[in-house]
Amino acid sequence: MVVYHLSTECYPVAKVGGLADVVGALPKYQNKIKGVDARVVMPWYNKPFVYDHEFELVFDGFIHQGPNMLQVQILKEKNDALGFGLYMVKIPGLLDRDNPYGYQDESFQFLAFQQGLLHWMCAMEIRPDILHCHDYHTGLVPFMIENCPEFISLKGVKTIGTIHNGEYQGMMSWDMANYMPSFDRYKWGLMDWNGLINPLASMIKCSHAFTTVSEGYLEELFISFRGLESLVRQEFGKAYGIINGIDTEVWNPETDPMLDFNFTSKNAVAQKKKNKEKLCKEYGLKPELPLFAFIGRFATEKGADLLPDVVWKSIKQSYGALNIMILGSGNTYIENKLKEYDYTYTNFALDLGYKEHLSHKIYASADFLLMPSRVEPCGLNQMYSMRYGTVPVVRYTGGLKDTVEDISTGGAGLNFTYPGVDDIVHAMNRALGVYNQKGMMENLIHANMNFDFAWEKSAEKYIALYNS
Ligand code: ADP
Ligand code: GLC
Repeated sequence: MVVYHLSTECYPVAKVGGLADVVGALPKYQNKIKGVDARVVMPWYNKPFVYDHEFELVFDGFIHQGPNMLQVQILKEKNDALGFGLYMVKIPGLLDRDNPYGYQDESFQFLAFQQGLLHWMCAMEIRPDILHCHDYHTGLVPFMIENCPEFISLKGVKTIGTIHNGEYQGMMSWDMANYMPSFDRYKWGLMDWNGLINPLASMIKCSHAFTTVSEGYLEELFISFRGLESLVRQEFGKAYGIINGIDTEVWNPETDPMLDFNFTSKNAVAQKKKNKEKLCKEYGLKPELPLFAFIGRFATEKGADLLPDVVWKSIKQSYGALNIMILGSGNTYIENKLKEYDYTYTNFALDLGYKEHLSHKIYASADFLLMPSRVEPCGLNQMYSMRYGTVPVVRYTGGLKDTVEDISTGGAGLNFTYPGVDDIVHAMNRALGVYNQKGMMENLIHANMNFDFAWEKSAEKYIALYNS
């Protein structure tokens, strides 16, 4: 069975968030299953994480985007060194930019990516068993292969759409239809939602099945989904919640080259302490005090707007008996507020930016990881922290609900229900109680490290879905 995963991110080549981690791991684990050949197609960017692989040009052609003619090149990674075939779509002037997102003309970029990859497949007579589309960036593929004459040779290929984040739907005005490959105009309704082209809605309508990255998130989408809830209810017969796994080869505290002191669950308590001491020293924190950390995008969906108040309130309420460290970037107001507190409080450290190495060090050093998310389709941070013996303190929502159980019901994490400053600080106070109870942290470190979040089970579930 040949599967192509279509995505704008893939670890370790280009990563903005969890989408990259999933697309960089799922195909690798699927390929361990007999008879499966999973591959990845992604855009070629200018400033990737790593391009130290060898690539060969396997296709060179042109597509039309309205009046514009665009060159499309497909580069294949020569040695399948990542555990799957990697194909990159290079569209000079449009897709070969520094970052995956954040450009005014993103609708043109993602349309060209989808059209370019389909054009290549048709020209080279590639007809996979499954096209697996990830998020709205590739959400029009199921529509295009059924309704654009240009892609007739892919008609009937089975498509799966995975919603990693329903907050972003890629809406665009109908004027953009002029820049798409020609399609059967009677079928316009399959792309439309409330008068706009909505790629995510189109993916839900046109794919043979669609998935969310946890069951908890799927349940929530039936009730609230930025206007798409009625569509999900209507299409519920082909909806599946499959929880993400984590790549336990990359995220292995025993071998992780990004850590200062590696550890297993046997020596975790002592080794984590050494990691924490080193990190605290570097950032001017106090290693004898508990360390709470937050890693992530400064976006309201992550509850990041609550962080500045959480910082001062928790430090004040505990009379300075804790450390907080934040790594991330995003909203400028949040960044500036946190910078101000970084200057004011010695118990608080801030590192702005995207730093893969530092994130690993923090997962290994912290005592608690904070995730006050308003929306969390799955969340990988809590699983990484657990694997590295750090206790997650999370809002009870989406994938967090499915992966973190509260200590009060026999779990090894802490949950809170409402995404508000007082509730978060209250949960942190509960965490401090745990920290100060003799022997409790040791037990929690071991319990968290022993959870099994490996990809194998979920990879099997996707294959079963493809087969069905
Ligand atoms: P999302 O994809 O919504 O941002 P996830 O929890 O699925 O959230 O995944 C986030 C991923 O990005 C994790 O691998 C996390 O460690 C990483 N990450 C987020 N922010 C940063 C940062 N500033 N520096 C390094 N890694 C980060
Ligand atoms: C999205 C979600 C996150 C999820 C990730 C990978 O970025 O926000 O919750 O873990 O995709 O599926």
